[in-house]
Amino acid sequence: MPKMRQSINIGLMGLGVVGGGVAKALIEKAEVLARQAGCPLTIRKILVSHPAKRRSIQVEPDLLTTDAGDILADPEVDIVVEVMGGERPALDYIREALISAKHVVTANKEVMAKYGPELQALAQEHQVDIRYEASVGGGIPLIAPFQHDLSANRISAIYAIINGTTNYILSRMAAEGLDFSLILKEAQELGYAEADPANDVEGVDAAYKLAILASLAFHTKVGPEDVYREGITRLAGHDFRYAKELGFAIKLLAIAKESDDEIEVRVHPTFVPEDFILAKVDGVFNAVQVEGDLVGKLLFHGEGAGARPTTSAVVADLIELAHNINSGVGTRAKPRFEPSKTIRPMSEIRTRYYLRMSVADHPGVLAQISKTLGDNLISISSVIQKGTDERAQTAEMVIMTHPAQEQAMQRALREMEGLAVVQEISNFVRVEA
Ligand SMILES: NC(=O)c1ccc[n+]([C@@H]2O[C@H](COP(=O)([O-])OP(=O)(O)OC[C@H]3O[C@@H](n4cnc5c(N)ncnc54)[C@H](OP(=O)(O)O)[C@@H]3O)[C@@H](O)[C@H]2O)c1
Repeated sequence: MPKMRQSINIGLMGLGVVGGGVAKALIEKAEVLARQAGCPLTIRKILVSHPAKRRSIQVEPDLLTTDAGDILADPEVDIVVEVMGGERPALDYIREALISAKHVVTANKEVMAKYGPELQALAQEHQVDIRYEASVGGGIPLIAPFQHDLSANRISAIYAIINGTTNYILSRMAAEGLDFSLILKEAQELGYAEADPANDVEGVDAAYKLAILASLAFHTKVGPEDVYREGITRLAGHDFRYAKELGFAIKLLAIAKESDDEIEVRVHPTFVPEDFILAKVDGVFNAVQVEGDLVGKLLFHGEGAGARPTTSAVVADLIELAHNINSGVGTRAKPRFEPSKTIRPMSEIRTRYYLRMSVADHPGVLAQISKTLGDNLISISSVIQKGTDERAQTAEMVIMTHPAQEQAMQRALREMEGLAVVQEISNFVRVEA
C-alpha cells in the first residue's frame, strides 16, 4: 500500500475564466475535495501573463509567477493544470510536464485535437497521465464515457452541437428571422461571442472537438485537418423561414460516422428535422448524440462552456488523478489507436440537400432546373416558389432533394449557375434526416 500523501501539489497554468474557476473551487471547496482525493489539493504556483491584472478571484500575490519554470522545474509539483489556451507555449509546457513525470490536466481542445495521440504516448512513456475532460463540452462528461463506459460498443455515429456561440446565434436567427451579422454583433455585446469570432463561426472550434471525439470513438487518429468544415456565415434569415416551413431547424452539426471501414468527419450548417432531439437544443447549450451497436442512442446534454461547468470537469480529473496517486493505482488505460482508417472524401458522402435560388419568373424554369439535377442523378423531393420580385421578374425557389452524392450536387450547382434562368444560387445546406 503506498503511503498516503500529506498533499498533492498543483501547478496551475492560467488564471482566466477557467483557471479562476478552478482556483476558486480548490480554495472554497478544499475540505470536501481533500476528503474525495484522499489528501489536500494544494496550489503551489499559478502561471499568468499579467500578474498585476485585477481578477475576479483574489489569490496570495506570491502564488503568481510569469515564469513557467517555477512550475515545470519544481519537483514538488505533482499535477500541472494547463488552462492557458492556444497552441504555443501550452503544447511545450504540457510536453515538458509529462517528460518531468508530472501528470497533466488540460482544457485545451486545440492542443488535444492536434497532438492528443502524441501526448498520450509521451504520458505513457513517462508513466503519468494526461486528462482532458474539459476540452470538449465543458462540464458534460464525454471523454471518460468514450474511454470507459462505451468501450464495449462499435460506435457508428456522433451528431453533436459542440459550439455554444454558434448555437446561440442560430437559435436567435431562427426565433427572430434576422441575418447573421446582426445577431453576431449583439452576441458580442452580451459576451456570448469573442471580439474575433472566426474560430467559432467558421467551425474551427467545433472541428477541434469533433477530431477529439472521433479519435476516441473510432480508435484512430483523426486530426482537425481531416474534418471538412463550413461555418455559419452564409446563412440568412430566409433560410430559417424556409426551414421552419419545411419542418426543420438549422444547426451547426459536427458529424462523425463510420461505415464500410471508412470515416466521415464534417462540421457544417445542417437542416435537422424539428422532431429530432438535437433540433430542440437551443442557446448556449451543447448536446452530443452517440449511436453504439450495444447501447443504442445516447444523448449527452448540458452547458458546454463557462467557468463553473468547465471547472467541474477539470477538478473531477484532478480528484481522480490525486486519488490514483494516493492509492498507487496506475495510469488510466490509454486509448488504443489502430492504424489510421480511411477518411471518406467529402465528394463521396451522401446526404439530402436544401437549395435556395433566385430564378427568372416565367414558365419552364423548374423543368430546366429539374433536368440539370436529374442529369446528375439527383431527384427532387419538394419545391417551394415565392417572393416574386415583379420589377426584376424573379422569384425565389427552394428545392429539397432526396439523398445524392456530394460530388454530383457540386457538379449540378455549377451547371445550374450556368443556366440563363438562374440568377443566383443563394444557398445550399446539407440535410440530415
Ligand atoms: N472559457 C470557457 O468556457 C472554456 C470552456 C472549455 C474549455 N476552455 C479552454 O480552457 C482554456 C482556457 O480558457 P479561458 O477561457 O480560461 O482563457 P482566458 O480567460 O483567456 O485565460 C487564459 C489565462 O492564461 C494566462 N496566459 C495565457 N497565455 C499565457 C502565457 N503565454 N504565459 C502565461 N500565462 C498565460 C492568462 O494570463 P493573464 O490573466 O495574466 O492574462 C490567463 O490567466 C482554453 O484552452 C479554452 O479553450 C475554455
